[in-house]
Amino acid sequence: MVKVNENYLKFPGSYLFSTIAKKVNAYMIENPDKKVIRLGIGDVTMPLSSAIVEALHGAVDEMGAAETFHGYAPDLGYGFLRETIAREDYSSRGCQIEADEIFVSDGAKSDCGNIQEIFDESSIIAVCDPVYPVYVDSNVMAGRTGTYDEVTGKWSKVVYMPCTAENGFVPELPTEAADLIYLCVPNNPTGTTLTRDQLKVWVDYANETGAVILYDAAYEAYIAEDNIPHSIYEIEGAKTCAIEFRSFSKNAGFTGVRLGFTVVPKELVRGGVALHALWARRHGTKFNGAPYIIQKAGEAVYSEAGKAQLKEQVAYYMRNAKVIYDGLKEIGCEVYGGVNAPYIWLKVPKGMTSWEFFDLLLEEASVVGTPGSGFGPSGEGYFRLTAFGTYENTKEAMERLKKMPSLRK
Ligand code: MLT
Repeated sequence: MVKVNENYLKFPGSYLFSTIAKKVNAYMIENPDKKVIRLGIGDVTMPLSSAIVEALHGAVDEMGAAETFHGYAPDLGYGFLRETIAREDYSSRGCQIEADEIFVSDGAKSDCGNIQEIFDESSIIAVCDPVYPVYVDSNVMAGRTGTYDEVTGKWSKVVYMPCTAENGFVPELPTEAADLIYLCVPNNPTGTTLTRDQLKVWVDYANETGAVILYDAAYEAYIAEDNIPHSIYEIEGAKTCAIEFRSFSKNAGFTGVRLGFTVVPKELVRGGVALHALWARRHGTKFNGAPYIIQKAGEAVYSEAGKAQLKEQVAYYMRNAKVIYDGLKEIGCEVYGGVNAPYIWLKVPKGMTSWEFFDLLLEEASVVGTPGSGFGPSGEGYFRLTAFGTYENTKEAMERLKKMPSLRK
């Protein structure tokens, strides 16, 4: 009899956003007259910009003509997109990343989840707490973690680095051995950031210890302040210790289109092996290339028109972030994030758990957010709201929150 991967049986529940979707659907069935406002999952609401739509149409026409039809895409990405990324995202910021160090994929979530495959099963992962659940869950599936403790909300064999208001949401270097260090800047879920100096500490640590930093920069387009790096390769020494993940979902609205990329510098070597070669082997074997039409849409993100339109989209969402941030402050909440990121992280009222607050918000205001504890034990007592809604819904959600008696101090 075949044996299943028992690591899957260790999970205490379903994936965070699936659990939330189930709860919200049940609420909507019970309350068909209520207009639910979703500020939970970080899914965008603005349509694709016209420069991107034009590129998609053009690429579809190419696919419909024998002379310009494209079959399988090159497994690591089309040269036109890899070269554009290298120039626009890296050279322009003074980072020397070559086009062939960029691996185009169907999104950062897949890459963040899959990257662990190229490391030994015994590798110890270190994660900020709270954290985007994919980092931990994908390692659980691979058998790299121990068991889940319902009381502490922690997995054994995982190094947790608490990021709370007490330490300004800046993780401290681990005191235990850590091989794979996941960092997400700007951070999901807290919306906070690390400065260049703060990130340098991590780069130096990884180079000294031989650890590898898995750097998720999916939200870099939202950085407004100058001292926050857009890429870890802005930090000296990062090319010998860091892999970077990028997404087109949040900066260009590709959540339903799917495109991302991962940078593995050739200088990144562990145990005498170039990780670039391992990831190329893995990617080439398990992925058949992002579709041509989608990569053409990705290229349009960097056109002059695309850049101008996307700057406006980011500004639109950041206006929402300000509405949420200011609205919560007005009520008297303790609020973080929302300045260099589309996520706002708030303290829930005293005596309540994050999930209790989730239920309360849904019941009293028909507003959906994400409970902090869903991102890890140090997220307990916090709650995440996203700025990716429409402006009208965001304003209405805040009006509803302001009327909730339990939220007023
Ligand atoms: C989130 O809400 O944390 C994100 O939308 C998840 C994702 O990007 O996969």
